[in-house]
Amino acid sequence: MIKTSFKDHECGKLNLSNVDETITLSGWVSTIRDLGGILFVELRDRSGFFQIVANPQINPEIHKVLEHVRSEYVIKVSGKVSKRPEETYNEKYPTGQVEMYPQTIEILSEAKTLPFVLDDENVSEDVRLKYRYLDLRREPMLEKLVMRHNIVQAIRNYMNNLDFLEVETPILIKTTPEGARDYLVPSRVQEGKFYALPQSPQIFKQLLMVGGIERYYQIAKCFRDEDLRADRQPEFTQVDIEMSFVEQQDVINVVEGLIVDAFKAAGVEVKPPFIQMPWQEAMDRFGSDKPDTRFGLELFDIGDIILESDFQIVKNTLLNGGIVRGIRIPGGASYSRKDIDDITKLAVSFGAKALANIIYQEDGTAKSPVLKFVTEEQAKAIQERAGAKAGDIIFFVADKPKLVYDVMGRLRLHFGKSLNLIDESKHALLWVVDFPMFEWSDEEGRFMAMHHPFTSPNLEDLDKLDSGDLGNVKSIAYDIVYNGTELGGGSVRIHSSEVQKKIFKALGLTEEEATEKFGFMVNALQYGTPPHAGLAIGLDRLVALLARTDSIRDVIAFPKNAAAKDLMSDAPGIASIKQLRELHIKSTVNNQK
Ligand code: AMO
Ligand code: AMP
Repeated sequence: MIKTSFKDHECGKLNLSNVDETITLSGWVSTIRDLGGILFVELRDRSGFFQIVANPQINPEIHKVLEHVRSEYVIKVSGKVSKRPEETYNEKYPTGQVEMYPQTIEILSEAKTLPFVLDDENVSEDVRLKYRYLDLRREPMLEKLVMRHNIVQAIRNYMNNLDFLEVETPILIKTTPEGARDYLVPSRVQEGKFYALPQSPQIFKQLLMVGGIERYYQIAKCFRDEDLRADRQPEFTQVDIEMSFVEQQDVINVVEGLIVDAFKAAGVEVKPPFIQMPWQEAMDRFGSDKPDTRFGLELFDIGDIILESDFQIVKNTLLNGGIVRGIRIPGGASYSRKDIDDITKLAVSFGAKALANIIYQEDGTAKSPVLKFVTEEQAKAIQERAGAKAGDIIFFVADKPKLVYDVMGRLRLHFGKSLNLIDESKHALLWVVDFPMFEWSDEEGRFMAMHHPFTSPNLEDLDKLDSGDLGNVKSIAYDIVYNGTELGGGSVRIHSSEVQKKIFKALGLTEEEATEKFGFMVNALQYGTPPHAGLAIGLDRLVALLARTDSIRDVIAFPKNAAAKDLMSDAPGIASIKQLRELHIKSTVNNQK
């Protein structure tokens, strides 16, 4: 510790070995109790708690001062550490065998009554966020910040030992194509122009590779204006990595080592190599590109059986490019009609138009509204495909692939949770590889980059790029998934300006648009670009998962709420008319001062 005139020891570190030492402590009064005229103070600093005692018979001046002290006052005390009488040892604290009857005391700062009791579990998150600086005084918050620090240090050590250079990249930039909306910053000097905040350092880290840096990393702030969820913040932190002269497996090796060290810093041991699962397999088995493999309930395909049947609606779906996937719920034959209705409603809320079911009854017969369309034999074949036993139920959905995967993947997670099938002690880490390069967007009416447009297509698929068969172009991209959450993602990059131009074209960017937006990038690729690849890990997600909390807000000192607001400072705020004028902005909202 740093010894100062305020403190030369830390509250939480004192023990019997300090007895008879004269020391100075400063901290917050956590509690103050009057037991038969004697005052007992729990003094708190970052390291923990220590007991201060004032007895009118032993140290009357101190007692007098302490009589006026309230919870959360900041005080400084000096005196001799003494051993407590053994019958008063407090096992709750590591310092429970020692205490101090101070000889001097000074009130450094008074405190108003706090807006909430720090340890009260029932305080709403909004109140805690409004007074985040008080919330941070709670031990669980401190523990998470300490864990975050330890993880970051482990990552830095690991990267430094592998000769990576930490380089900062700019925050006021042009744009990054990560697929979210940009935060814009108006320029005062350049009238009518805007900077964007980086959605990631993607372009700059690639330009660092062109610049010969070879191995880069950064603990980087990223900004994305998107719908927020428990695992999404408008500003968040990435462990951002880029390497030259490497292939996919080289990046995977480096990141697996990083994961081992980061997990170790949180007390968790994991062993690489992690499974590498092709994207198509992940979708087919789990209905998700971030499969939670801690439990079974894998999906199955009954398309071939249905095509033999008279199930006309579903057959039509299949003949028009659709797919059908099912899930088996063990013991589900006992579901009531209402249970099945509720599950169907859930599937509909996930986007399904219908959810079919077949109950395999205890007496060996099948029961289902779809038996009108499938023969007994076909129902048996479906049962075999599902691995269903008497007493089980199966559900299935037919539709466009994206919708079927989404609905069935979410149903699988629902059953995994509601049937308590998830083994919380497992650490399921895996890579999802061989992603499609493009994804059709109904909203935009065009193909979009599934990762980002600098991702290299699989070189064998280059002809498909030329022939416009975009749906079947694979990319050299990879995601790392932990317990069903996407921790990080990356790719091998395009290092040829020609291929880069083709991708922009496939994405529907005209040459002018591509030049306007990313011309400097295409230019740079023409001056000797090393093959390069990289990845970024969501640091907030990593820490939240290791701290076993559901929300990344818990591992960010000053987060925003679900409406992207900072409840403490009340950001975003209103700009004055003068400020707006300087920025050449006319607001359509009439709330300016
Ligand atoms: P990507 O967009 O997949 O890749 O982001 C990488 C990781 O960042 C985390 N993440 C977020 N965390 C919190 N809040 C958010 N809003 C948020 N958005 C993303 C996720 C995600 O896996 N430049 C590429 C990486 C690369 O290709 O090297 C990129 O940003 O954990
Ligand atoms: P209906 O003829 O409307 O009674 O439908 C017969 C059965 O087909 C119902 O059990 C529906 O749930 C099922 N069904 C219809 N469309 C689909 C679909 N796209 N996916 C799964 N089941 C379906």
